[in-house]
Amino acid sequence: MNGLRLRVRNLHKSFSHVKALRGVNLTIEPGRIMALVGDNGAGKSTLVKIMAGVLPPDKGEIIIDNRVYRRLTPNQAIEEGIATVYQDLALVNCRDVASNIFLGRELTRGFFVNKSRMYRQAQDLLERLDIDVPAVKIPVGQLSGGQRQAIAIARAVNMGGRLFIFDEPTAALGYKETNQTLRLIRQLREQGYSVIVISHNLHHVFSIADDICVLRHGRVVDCLPTSRTRQEQVVKLITGMEIA
Ligand SMILES: Nc1ncnc2c1ncn2[C@@H]1O[C@H](COP(=O)(O)OP(=O)(O)OP(=O)(O)O)[C@@H](O)[C@H]1O
Ligand SMILES: [Mg+2]
Repeated sequence: MNGLRLRVRNLHKSFSHVKALRGVNLTIEPGRIMALVGDNGAGKSTLVKIMAGVLPPDKGEIIIDNRVYRRLTPNQAIEEGIATVYQDLALVNCRDVASNIFLGRELTRGFFVNKSRMYRQAQDLLERLDIDVPAVKIPVGQLSGGQRQAIAIARAVNMGGRLFIFDEPTAALGYKETNQTLRLIRQLREQGYSVIVISHNLHHVFSIADDICVLRHGRVVDCLPTSRTRQEQVVKLITGMEIA
């Protein structure tokens, strides 16, 4: 299995007097896409930052396969295969597609970078993920926003990613690019990886997620299988209007 099983248990996190997370429990499964939804300030980004080792929790634990962590450092998260995909971050515009996919871990032959092997492997990876770019030899700066995000995803896969976290992946993309990105996220699931997607767009959420988890005021109010859930139900959970 390519993906990893990640569980968080009783996570708490405060920023001075703001309680961002108040006892979050959640399980991420390999080969599934989980959508994290919730209103502004519900705690979504805080939660995934803790999973990526960017923030330490105040309390609780993170369990990956069977390893229990009180907190993850960014390096531990990367070693465990947790990859946060930021839109263009970490791409070098003046370098070509293949170099970006291998950034920081170039294939070498003796003292020299083995360009032809990098091109070949980059090409294979792009084919496996069904990513369409004009060529592996063109600079990333010449690609569209959607293509650049696809390269960022390919790079994360190449780095050994097993759980991919997307925080609003389509916010800056046009219609066609959004669809390409959603397709690529589904492709990650088909390859058995674990995926978390944060989105305010419920239409996108319903089109890709296997499970929808709703956060409200720092708590998970419910996790529902998408196939047995209607959009109105999710809206009610997000806003807390189901009480009325
Ligand atoms: N670095 C920080 N310092 C202080 N408060 C923070 C910090 N990060 C988040 N918060 C607060 O924690 C709460 C949760 O924020 P978070 O960013 O996790 O929400 P979110 O669900 O991602 O919201 P959005 O949908 O707007 O991105 C908010 O009240 C926010 O103001
Ligand atoms: Mg956020």
